[in-house]
Amino acid sequence: MSREATLATLDRLGLLAPLRRIKHRLFPCPPERTFRPCTPHLLIAVNRALRYVADDRSAEPGDYLEFGIFRGFTLWYAQALARDMDLRGMRFFGFDSFQGLPEVGGIDLGAEFSTGQYSAGRQEVEGNLAALDVDWTRTVLVEGFFDKTLHADQRRDHALRTCAVAVIDCDLYESTKQVLAWLYPLIGAKTVLLFDDWHNFGDDPAKGEQRAFHEFLDAHPDLAATEFTAIGTHGKGFVVARN
Ligand SMILES: C[S@@+](CC[C@H](N)C(=O)[O-])C[C@H]1O[C@@H](n2cnc3c(N)ncnc32)[C@H](O)[C@@H]1O
Repeated sequence: MSREATLATLDRLGLLAPLRRIKHRLFPCPPERTFRPCTPHLLIAVNRALRYVADDRSAEPGDYLEFGIFRGFTLWYAQALARDMDLRGMRFFGFDSFQGLPEVGGIDLGAEFSTGQYSAGRQEVEGNLAALDVDWTRTVLVEGFFDKTLHADQRRDHALRTCAVAVIDCDLYESTKQVLAWLYPLIGAKTVLLFDDWHNFGDDPAKGEQRAFHEFLDAHPDLAATEFTAIGTHGKGFVVARN
């Protein structure tokens, strides 16, 4: 049996996520080997997005929101760049289950994604960020699956204001749909949305992040999206503006 078939069978039996957790606990990788981005091209796009925000001096102050942070590298990097660009008021929010992908089902089946994939525990992520001196006064980690954490109180409790840049790196249609619905009130005059997994699912517009974003735009005719940047060969970024 191929490796992929074995993983798919274990996933179907509900064994993949617990086995991954056990492996991670028994054989933790040293941080210098694991604290790196999933997709290095995303860092270039984050750089472009923050530069875009920094250059637009008329823009209202906004926050950086990342949905799916895994080990936290991109979140840390975004803050380091923003500091360098003098984006002083920006805050950094990382949303993640800290247990990896939720149960993969329905329309999200059939790609390379499996339940529990990209699992990094909160303690590990906090350790990674602390080791590189993240500024905790401007950093908030929101733990849990999006269907539980992305509710109206979350926006109010953190006094969330306009989103300047959102990194949407949660792989699945279902996760992206939840993120966009929750994000809608935070879209400002101009908000940069970076979809790291845009071309997944064989680049099928009826699946994954593409489907979620097209449905979102159809549901909100007050928003207009313009292509902003490619993210390697796997992702795409947009500027979304209110008409
Ligand atoms: C590819 S990783 C993110 C990589 C990260 N942005 C980086 O640049 O290193 C995908 C992340 O999305 C999270 N995720 C996906 N769907 C989620 C959901 N519905 N609720 C919470 N977390 C989710 C997973 O836990 C995982 O950490």
